[in-house]
Amino acid sequence: MPKEQEKTMEKIVSLAKQRGFIYPGSEIYGGLANSWDYGPLGVELKNNIKNLWWQRFVRRRDDIVGLDAALIMNPKVWEASGHVSEFNDPMVECKKCHARHRADHAQAVRVKQADSSNKLSDEEKELWFCDSKETHDYTTPKDFNMMFRTHLGPVEDNDNLVYLRPETAQAIFVDFKNILQTSRKAPPFGVAQIGKAFRNEITPGNFIFRTREFEQMEIEYFIEKPKNDKDWEKYFDEWVKEMRAWIKEAGIDSKKIHELDVPKDELAHYSKKTIDFEFDFPFGKDELYGLAYRTDFDLKTHEKHSGQDTKYKDQETGEEYWPHVIEPSMGVDRTVLAVLCSAYKEEDDRVVLKLDPKVAPYKVAVFPLLKNKPELVKLARSVYDDLRQKFMAAWDERGNVGKRYYSQDQIGTPYCVTVDFDSLDDKAVTVRDRDTTKQERVKIGELESYLSDKLI
Ligand code: GAP
Repeated sequence: MPKEQEKTMEKIVSLAKQRGFIYPGSEIYGGLANSWDYGPLGVELKNNIKNLWWQRFVRRRDDIVGLDAALIMNPKVWEASGHVSEFNDPMVECKKCHARHRADHAQAVRVKQADSSNKLSDEEKELWFCDSKETHDYTTPKDFNMMFRTHLGPVEDNDNLVYLRPETAQAIFVDFKNILQTSRKAPPFGVAQIGKAFRNEITPGNFIFRTREFEQMEIEYFIEKPKNDKDWEKYFDEWVKEMRAWIKEAGIDSKKIHELDVPKDELAHYSKKTIDFEFDFPFGKDELYGLAYRTDFDLKTHEKHSGQDTKYKDQETGEEYWPHVIEPSMGVDRTVLAVLCSAYKEEDDRVVLKLDPKVAPYKVAVFPLLKNKPELVKLARSVYDDLRQKFMAAWDERGNVGKRYYSQDQIGTPYCVTVDFDSLDDKAVTVRDRDTTKQERVKIGELESYLSDKLI
């Protein structure tokens, strides 16, 4: 990674920790590789993103309903879905130091190293060198299944073997008939779910980009019986547009997005076409989201393996069929990272997170000009208490106002409200805009509607 971008990444990771967005997991025990905890501001940012997504795709549409299914499912689900046999990454092991890496990552470094004009990043060096600085001597690639295994109940034998779900999608197919019967939806319609997924990644890394425990926001969109083998394309194109619109709404920089038509030989076992939405992260261009045409693969395979009918029955014609599926799949943590990378700016004498107000942890911060003037603090406190009923609000009375602005800019608070001596007479406050740094005088009685107009 170029030095400048490496620095940007370090600054974002450091800001995230210092200001309570994201901490290394289990830190007092020396951490746990690639596990991260969302702190007080991180959980607000992440929840705002998830709520915005749910609002956009479930609440505002009448063709999509929600689901929140169990993380641990009957293991037969993963045999039927193909994950037991197909959800593998080829892995290589160094015969000398026994380091294990993904075969495709090791191969990419080999290609890069062959061109002497390229410099390897620290992560790439790990793929190339043993500790002793000799190059690795890799075995031929072996398939490694990425599903986490555990056991239900006290006996750890094969009869009790279960998996932690590697994607949220499967529960939507397994619950398809229940959802049909209770929601009375008919194709085209979708089912959305947000939740944790687990993958025993061989090489996690790049902060929250690739972890072994992460969250997904997924929709399975079921379409009518195709009249020809191109019918699904119009829905696929609509979902490309929907995903672009979501990227904009979340405050991700669209100029850094690249749409990649995944080559046929790299498609997942269930997909006939996939577009990856890649983002220019500081460590390089990589997958942010995926959009796949899953055909009727999943419903069909679950009927075959469960022996239960998983078809949709058209009420008018009586015709029964497996609807084909378009699947927009989005990682929550990668969204958080892309949002942070898009918002992070260094300007003159400040660092500012230009977060969209809809996802910013705090919408407004309230300050008394001086903390040792009880009448100012009292009035500021009442302004803060009122605003807090409507918006996520911060209180700050430390240091001077300049320092407080600096601090709120760093965490992306869109508006700061200062109560000063004039406020005691004119019952007005100074509102400062994060992005323009312009200040405006607003009557306390009009403050809530002033902010509502700007924030909602
Ligand atoms: N149901 C389809 C599916 O799971 P995927 O491309 O394997 O497709 C979808 O994953 C999205 O989940 C990715 O685009 C990414 O945003 C997120 N994701 C996948 N693996 C991840 C990991 N190890 N860490 C963080 N996010 C991940």
